[in-house]
Amino acid sequence: MISLTRRHFVLGTSSLALLALAQRANPASSLGARAEAHIEALIAKMTLQEKAGQLSIFSDMTRLVPKTQINPEAGPPVDTNLAQRVREGRLIGVFNGLGAAGARAIQKIAVEESRLKIPLIFGADVLHGLYTIFPIPLGEAASFDPQLAERTARAAAIESTANGLHWTFAPMVDIGRDQRWGRVAEGSGEDPYLGTALAVARVRGFQGKNLTDEDSMLACPKHFVAYGAASGGMDYNSVEMSEQTLHEVYLAPFKAAFEAGALSTMSSFNDVNGVPMSANRKLMTELLREEWRFRGMVVSDYTADKELIAHGVANDDREATKLAILAGVDISMQSDLYNLYLPELVKSGDLAMAVVDESVRRVLRTKYVLGLFDNPYRSLNPKVEKRNTMTPQLRAIARESARASIVLMKNEGELLPLRKSGQKIALIGPFGPDTLNLAGPWAPFANFNHVVSVEQGLRAALTDPSLLTVTQGSLIEKPLEGGIDAAVAAASAADVVVLAIGEGQNMSGEGNSRTRIDVPAPQQQLAEAVAKVGKPIVVLLRNGRALALEGAVREAQAIVTTWFLGTETGSAIADVLFGDYSPSGRLPVSFPQDSGQQPYFYNRRTTGRPQGDQGPAYKARYREVSNEALYSFGHGLTYSRFDYEPPIVSTDSLGWNEVLTVTAKITNIGEREAEEVAQLYIRDRTASLTRPIRELKGFRKVRIAPGTSAEVQFTLTRTDLAFYNAAMKFVAEPGEFDVWISPSATTGVSTRFELKGA
Ligand code: BGC
Repeated sequence: MISLTRRHFVLGTSSLALLALAQRANPASSLGARAEAHIEALIAKMTLQEKAGQLSIFSDMTRLVPKTQINPEAGPPVDTNLAQRVREGRLIGVFNGLGAAGARAIQKIAVEESRLKIPLIFGADVLHGLYTIFPIPLGEAASFDPQLAERTARAAAIESTANGLHWTFAPMVDIGRDQRWGRVAEGSGEDPYLGTALAVARVRGFQGKNLTDEDSMLACPKHFVAYGAASGGMDYNSVEMSEQTLHEVYLAPFKAAFEAGALSTMSSFNDVNGVPMSANRKLMTELLREEWRFRGMVVSDYTADKELIAHGVANDDREATKLAILAGVDISMQSDLYNLYLPELVKSGDLAMAVVDESVRRVLRTKYVLGLFDNPYRSLNPKVEKRNTMTPQLRAIARESARASIVLMKNEGELLPLRKSGQKIALIGPFGPDTLNLAGPWAPFANFNHVVSVEQGLRAALTDPSLLTVTQGSLIEKPLEGGIDAAVAAASAADVVVLAIGEGQNMSGEGNSRTRIDVPAPQQQLAEAVAKVGKPIVVLLRNGRALALEGAVREAQAIVTTWFLGTETGSAIADVLFGDYSPSGRLPVSFPQDSGQQPYFYNRRTTGRPQGDQGPAYKARYREVSNEALYSFGHGLTYSRFDYEPPIVSTDSLGWNEVLTVTAKITNIGEREAEEVAQLYIRDRTASLTRPIRELKGFRKVRIAPGTSAEVQFTLTRTDLAFYNAAMKFVAEPGEFDVWISPSATTGVSTRFELKGA
């Protein structure tokens, strides 16, 4: 019940934003007078067509590696005519073309042959590596290790800048609460706190110390905004949501990423409450620019400006152009609309020149911040390319990050780790020998010639590799003739089965939403047949999302989630399966009981009839399954066991301006040293609005030796307890809170404290 006499204390959003602004190192705000003067002089000289050119980007079909279409065919083909376009100043730069020498040649045309000699910027979709592939961002989120994410982003930037890139369309910071949505794979999962920590880490990693450094890459947190909340989990679908959820969940990682210095963002494909994002002035200008003081540039997603017509908010290309630029989209991606319509819109008086100039200014400033005016050939050195591509250092980080991303969900009877000798292992399933489904759905440049398959990884680790048999058993989405018989024979001859099953990399990612988030039927049939043999089974899941596990897969003695781990997949899996590395990953997404529970996430709001102990009647749950997760957010086992003592709070009555300390003792009661991820959760017991049943507010990875304990400590202030109230004020409300330090979102013992009013 909401108490009417209760006092609400407001932490003004604007004052918080201002504070953050003061703290932020925003390079665009510190451009010198010389740069500003040069930019203004250029703008004064530019023709309308040249201005439109600086606001248009195209996929580089001349240097696309591999030569496959990454996006749908659209816009003008920028291939044979690229040099001419550059000469005429009709583009800001290109994206998804690779190679330092080629980029250098195009840059030479820009700075020597174009009228105003404005350097080009080279962009690409580098989400988790260029050629050397690190785990998909969702997998890496399972490491609960922002420092690691920062290092993989740094490594990706080093390899990418060596290959002639300045700008990555990453990190993808969309929160993914619905596992049917295929792009969950590209983000950090369902939780805004974890997502925010990783967003910041990746921005720092990509951008490095200084954006002018030749190995620094401009980051582009995307897709602004709420793209992950597509209705029904269907990609590109409409989004309807409360302002509160929009700010608390979906905008939070963006805000933090911009505060960390990210100087670009991408307008998403979806609408939010009826307004397509590429026409959404309220969010892209009023919030982003005016309230948050973002100084960078906004690029539309691929043809998203033109799609305003299909959305039904623009009649034609001309109107779509006008809506997009007025909303705050500075750069049109691929559609060519800005080149085609901006000049005429200004000439006819339908659009103020000042609007176009402001976007051009943002673009030129960003090019300055990247050092392109002073050194147009930065990051375009073939010698550095050779030196920094697919290096042993990159591979070492790929292996380290891959094994830290693996989540041991179940390990009955301590089936794992396996022995390296004296045990016959049958590796069964389409992903045993596979080398084509290791990178994940958005790693278009992955070098598949240098990947380690599961089979290769296990073989290399075994003392006697002849103890390993490998049987495909099934294709990914189709049965394989004779496959099941061969698999049953292999299982019968073995001591233990490793069942490598799951999703192919084209089953998640853009445009690949699923109605059922299960293991494809032919592989499920394979699992059922193999289980009948009766040997212990380790399920090795390959997945771009949380899956709903059924039958023999769910019942297996051990279940390991491996996502798409990238270049070093097999080595990392061997490290974990044979115990050279004790698994330390935790789930960044909840594994539900059943596909039909989606969207399913741990931090859902309380209902009036929560599922309790009194049976299912008239409770918030489905008829068929319990509303508990099968494996909840934060869950993950190690090769040891940990005991948590209830958390101790420094005071049970927290003053308005005080800091609360929450401490818990964690003891390793197993036999091995291992890393535990202690997670801090809170619950606001009574508030003016319904609040989540638990919310993550901190986490810490600690390595603890067997028989010893560690004390983990977190602090909370009233800001950590605040939320957006009905009037959209960011407030902390006095009252009682539960607090946990626990190994997952659904376990542990809570302690209570009260926040006192001012
Ligand atoms: C995707 C973006 C990507 C862009 C350019 C779009 O289809 O939604 O994430 O950056 O293509 O490749």
